Amino acid sequence: MESIKIFSAIVLFLNSIYAQRIPVLHNGNENQPIDHIPFVASLRLDDVDESYFGKGHFCTGVFISRKNVLTLASCFYQNDALLNPDEVRVVGGTKYKYEQEIQTFSTILNEILIHDNFSRSSLENNIAIGYLTDELPKDNQYVKSINLLSQESPVENLNLKIYGWSLTTRFEESLHLLDGTVVVTAIENCDPAFNKITTTTICAGPYHVNGCETDDGAPLVTEDGILYGLIDARPAGYCSKIITNRLGTYVDISKFYEWILEHNENSAIRGNKISLITILFFVFLLQFNAIFL
Ligand SMILES: *[C@@H]1O[C@H](CO)[C@@H](O)[C@H](O)[C@H]1NC(C)=O
Repeated sequence: MESIKIFSAIVLFLNSIYAQRIPVLHNGNENQPIDHIPFVASLRLDDVDESYFGKGHFCTGVFISRKNVLTLASCFYQNDALLNPDEVRVVGGTKYKYEQEIQTFSTILNEILIHDNFSRSSLENNIAIGYLTDELPKDNQYVKSINLLSQESPVENLNLKIYGWSLTTRFEESLHLLDGTVVVTAIENCDPAFNKITTTTICAGPYHVNGCETDDGAPLVTEDGILYGLIDARPAGYCSKIITNRLGTYVDISKFYEWILEHNENSAIRGNKISLITILFFVFLLQFNAIFL
């Protein structure tokens, strides 16, 4: 009996170490569903999803108006070919990947706009807009576009949230939406051996809070919903079941502010300039820390 107890204790201990060290969101807790996040979109291969709701999920995105979803350009390349818009189903208002709820909204795309200067090799300008066939409903609190895009890159040490259907601590895909808090850090902390660093990369840690491959395009936002970035491409195997120490990379959407506005239909988006006062306040806080800590 004693030996079984000791064995279980060791297993639990090892499990907790692994749990901390693989990239997961919300500590990968399968038993703690979060609320609906109305601006999070699930992108799915329509033919796969038709036979099994949720199975077609391949990328994530953000509703930026009632007509448009913002995501990565790389998302639309599957098996080296550019998807046709009518092959892509966009689902909103569902927190359980495999369950349709009453408020679930779903439509296919009628156009995919890839940034002109997107490079599949360097991943520069990895941004795209999908135009929805049906508009988001006007009166559905579970499906809504985000209304603020940041016009500034996030400052270091800023806390931001990420959302996705990432891995759980049991190394399984999550059945419900997960969230996590990351902190923006200097670009040098992101390892170019694991992540493609571009001129628009944001780097954020800690390493065990990260998105996995089907979280590509998922939002990096403030607590009150100001969009700063998208989870950048996570190549196959990025979240393999091994101990990893790579920090996450994100596409800085402020660098594409004009491009997004120019191509966003029915947009209600307003810009969010961080005022000089806010910056001075942060500088003051940093000084204060330096003196007292
Ligand atoms: C793509 O790059 C060219 C050459 O640098 C530039 O003139 C053009 O404005 C860029 N396109 C976009 C959409 O940024």
